[in-house]
Amino acid sequence: MSKPAISKKEVRALVTFASEAAYGAGAILKEGFRKNKAIRYKGRIDPVTEFDLRSEKFIVSKIKSRYPDHGLLAEEGSEREQTSEFRWVIDPLDGTVNYAHRFPIYCVSIGLEMSGQIVAGVVYDPERDELFSAGQNIGASLNGKKIVVSDEPKLERALLATGFAYNIKKAKRNNLGLFARMSKKAQGIRRPGSAAMDLCWLASGRLDGFWELYLHPWDTAAGLIIVEEAGGKVTQFDGSAYDITSDEILASNDKLHRQLQRVLCHKQKR
Ligand code: IPD
Ligand code: CA
Ligand code: CA
Repeated sequence: MSKPAISKKEVRALVTFASEAAYGAGAILKEGFRKNKAIRYKGRIDPVTEFDLRSEKFIVSKIKSRYPDHGLLAEEGSEREQTSEFRWVIDPLDGTVNYAHRFPIYCVSIGLEMSGQIVAGVVYDPERDELFSAGQNIGASLNGKKIVVSDEPKLERALLATGFAYNIKKAKRNNLGLFARMSKKAQGIRRPGSAAMDLCWLASGRLDGFWELYLHPWDTAAGLIIVEEAGGKVTQFDGSAYDITSDEILASNDKLHRQLQRVLCHKQKR
């Protein structure tokens, strides 16, 4: 699908607005991080804290008052049909299991779709005060400084990340086999527990590749454009086009992409 037409000036204004929303939501999360939190369960192991909800409320009300015609899709239930070509795709707290345990890897993720294509994204990590952002054709940055993916060409020297969906007990494809296979090929694999952070750490060269199954649109909307604008590649496991509703994501520094595809598609020679 071709990229929708939007000026760099307009993209910058939208990224600035999203950054303000992410900073505000991040402050709410940071304040709650060390507190005892009310937690309820959406599924067997899928928690939601009162701060997921407070963060979402903050972001949604900010968008509604600034862009009343824009659509919304947010993890904790806020949804609004758009009357313009724009739709915000929001994870108010990515890394909720970490957050609930006071394990300090979590973030706010806000992506913006225009006519079905992601044109801007911001991810804010309140623990490290790191704001990752990107917009169509304006590049990706970390706290205002340009970032690019790593140039590692060898899988055996690559540091990768992955994750496991909440449906791990029931799903046919639970990623455990792929994890075992990839562990024998890469230098190392991490499971940080926040897909949005994984994508940003790939975009900034801290990781060389990332894959996961069954992520949701709000997990990857912002990270997708941040990786792409940092020079990385995002597809499904077989290299086919990825969109935020896909069941599989493979993201890399581009140089490693085919090697990762071979492992994930079980096609390499033994
Ligand atoms: C989860 C995180 C995790 C990933 C899960 C996601 P949540 O999002 O991104 O890293 O492995 O699949 O659901 O529930 O913390 O927003
Ligand atoms: Ca998430
Ligand atoms: Ca979440």
